Amino acid sequence: MTARNPARNTAERWGWVSQALHWLIALLILGLGVVGLCIANHVFRQTPKFFWIWTAHKSLGITVLVLMLVRLVWRLYAGAPKPVPNTPAWQHAIAVATHALIYALALAIPLSGWLYDSASGLRPFKFFGQFNMPKLVAPDEGLRHVAHFLHEWGFWALIALVLLHAGAALYHHLFLHDATLKRMTSFTR
Ligand code: HEM
Ligand code: HEM
Repeated sequence: MTARNPARNTAERWGWVSQALHWLIALLILGLGVVGLCIANHVFRQTPKFFWIWTAHKSLGITVLVLMLVRLVWRLYAGAPKPVPNTPAWQHAIAVATHALIYALALAIPLSGWLYDSASGLRPFKFFGQFNMPKLVAPDEGLRHVAHFLHEWGFWALIALVLLHAGAALYHHLFLHDATLKRMTSFTR
């Protein structure tokens, strides 16, 4: 039987903790984006029957915020693999900048959602139906607009970066035939 790869990242590859967080967060963000766009475009009628979808979007969004903070701490503790051999310095620099921007946006999007919810002066939402989430600010119409703008356009900026990011990963895999994608997808040694 093939052994599972270690939890910690090594110089050559990502460990399973970074991999699991990468793919779980990616799935959640893309799923939340689809649901968020459905909400904003009135695909679900604003009746109590559908409110659980709002609460699920908000609760899962806060979960992404927490997972991103865990990921950031883990990344600082466990480090990152070296670039695959023969990576030009400029390509590595673009990858580092893209990853940093993705981190920033993946934190800013749920935070702006929470700010939007707070500034809207809606009733507090219950985190997965368990307890009331605190409000970040008092109701404020100006802030509500700013937060909504950041939430919506932050998401589209993230999508643009992720397309570049996934395109680069696929280019490495299909044309350069190196380990860039494999070391993030393979959960065995
Ligand atoms: C990573 C996490 C999240 C992602 C990717 C995400 C994504 C989105 C997107 C793409 C929209 C549609 C924006 C538009 O076109 O107007 C949206 C709407 C919305 N999101 Fe999020 N969201 C996240 C987290 C949150 C959180 C944590 C909250 C609140 C606590 C929240 C509250 C809302 C609300 C209330 C709307 C509806 C906006 C409207 O009334 O038009 N979101 N979300
Ligand atoms: C919402 C979707 C995604 C987000 C937010 C995201 C975010 C990230 C971040 C922040 C890193 C840097 C890891 C770190 O320093 O901790 C990373 C690495 C990576 N991602 Fe993504 N990613 C997404 C989707 C994808 C997709 C669709 C692919 C592949 C088609 C992919 C392939 C990779 C690979 C291969 C690495 C490792 C790069 C290396 O070893 O240098 N990602 N991702």
